[in-house]
Amino acid sequence: MSSDPIYSAQLEALKEKKKNMRLGGGAEAIEKQRKKGKLSVWERIEYFFDAGTFVEVGAYIELRNEFFGLGKKKTPGDGVVTGFGLVNGRLVYAAAQDFTVLGGSLGEMHGKKIASLMDMALQNGAPFVSLNDSGGARVQEGIGALCGYGDIFMRNTRASGVIPQISLIMGPCAGGAVYSPGITDFVVMVKDTSYMFITGPEVIRTVTGETVSMEALGGPEMHSGKSGVVTYVGENDQDALDWVKRLLSYLPGSNAETPPSVNSVPQIEMPADIEELVPANVNKPYDMSEVVKNILDINSFLELQENYARNVIIGFGRLGGTSVGIVANNPRESAGCLDVNASDKAARFVRFCDAFNIPLITLVDVPGFLPGTDQEYNGIIRHGAKLLYAYAEATVPKLTVILRKSYGGAYICMCSRHLGADFVAAWPGAEIAVMGPDGAVNIVFKKDIDAVKEAGGDAEAKAAECKQEYIDKFANPTIAASRGYVDDVIEPAKTRSVLLAYLRALSTKHQEGPKRKHGNIPL
Ligand code: HXC
Repeated sequence: MSSDPIYSAQLEALKEKKKNMRLGGGAEAIEKQRKKGKLSVWERIEYFFDAGTFVEVGAYIELRNEFFGLGKKKTPGDGVVTGFGLVNGRLVYAAAQDFTVLGGSLGEMHGKKIASLMDMALQNGAPFVSLNDSGGARVQEGIGALCGYGDIFMRNTRASGVIPQISLIMGPCAGGAVYSPGITDFVVMVKDTSYMFITGPEVIRTVTGETVSMEALGGPEMHSGKSGVVTYVGENDQDALDWVKRLLSYLPGSNAETPPSVNSVPQIEMPADIEELVPANVNKPYDMSEVVKNILDINSFLELQENYARNVIIGFGRLGGTSVGIVANNPRESAGCLDVNASDKAARFVRFCDAFNIPLITLVDVPGFLPGTDQEYNGIIRHGAKLLYAYAEATVPKLTVILRKSYGGAYICMCSRHLGADFVAAWPGAEIAVMGPDGAVNIVFKKDIDAVKEAGGDAEAKAAECKQEYIDKFANPTIAASRGYVDDVIEPAKTRSVLLAYLRALSTKHQEGPKRKHGNIPL
């Protein structure tokens, strides 16, 4: 049949059309993007998916609104490439916007393409990854553009907790182009080339008179350190895409699956002498991420939101090859206390792990919730409650280790037995109390110390004696263990092997909550 001249002419025409379609807004426009340090949309897709596995869906769709001269513009694929393929051998759906076509702006058909691919991802239980590079709603299309975004937000929400959703911000993204990522589970930006804001600097200047640069308004540094919107910042497009591939390796395709297991190195004991990483003096800081790395399989820790609320560490890792979610106080930053931002950061992560069957490991070294007007005015009650709620609600295996201290509300909050931890271990020196010895002495023994002072005695010596009495009573996990709130007091060097054993024991855990439409987490 291919010798038929009419047929071969059609074939040639098809090839030519496909070649042109792949050029999006044209070779010149692609070159302009490259000069900014960005890959083209097809380079991104080819870099992300396993070679030769990407299948495009809806390639021939074009815009159908012709207002304001749009009809005269070429919009191959209406500015977005949608399809599916394999990432490290596993099915992933993706939509990649092409900034060379009308600034990647989202018109009616552009929106419909993304929405229909999201339906496929949801129905087939595979992650959805969006590569965003867009000026937001296509102004010339009016309601057509707005309805496109509405369709996407609706699907983002319906898919939340069913399939993992990951957004890459790979250019200047405005308006609707940032609200969809805002709903998704993880947001990755790219250094120097990506920005996120609901309205750009120009609109801000017109409306409020404020002058601000794109970088200061919505650059990666701001979003990773201040707003907390961003999970990771890639050095360039390739690094961002590599990071997402690694992230996917910890996640199941959907909430109906368990996360993939990998064959891990048979390593029972921890590589470093863990006691050397954690000073005995509870007031001395140290970097908890080093402890985390020592407990997990070698090189398996993937930290998330590294630059935001650094007093709490969150991330994925593997224990004996199984994906786990880590939440850990970090005494290196603000003594590892819980505050507004740390509570938000940890709570959302706990909920993700719970939705996707990823066991939680919580490492505790916490002096309490941060006191002060700043925290109260910013709603620490509401935000701290999120973390309490998230842990209490989670039904995945929950393993907790108290390393040095765990005081007050933060003790309860950091996945205590009272919030349903399946296993709680404590190191021998762990202090579990309403508060630390210094604060407690002034409350419990105030009258005794004052009496010594009034009698002209040595009040300081009395205070030291009272403090010691308090430490002897509470600066160890004995009482908590005797009541069954701590299951085991363990040698620090055994932490990994004990957690491995419990993780195995809980691998078939099944727990149902009460029947309800949904809870009302304090947002
Ligand atoms: C139509 C758009 C567009 C848009 C960009 N373009 N954004 N066309 N609708 N929203 C076009 C530009 O006109 C230009 O076309 C081309 O894309 C490239 O844009 P440049 O401005 O030259 O690029 P750059 O200098 O890199 O600036 C990128 C940008 C800027 C920061 C994104 O274009 C911008 O501020 N755009 C508008 C952002 C915005 O306010 N969007 C609407 C948000 S409201 P030519 O033909 O010149 O090449 C929204 C509503 C939904 O999204 C909200 C749901 C909650």
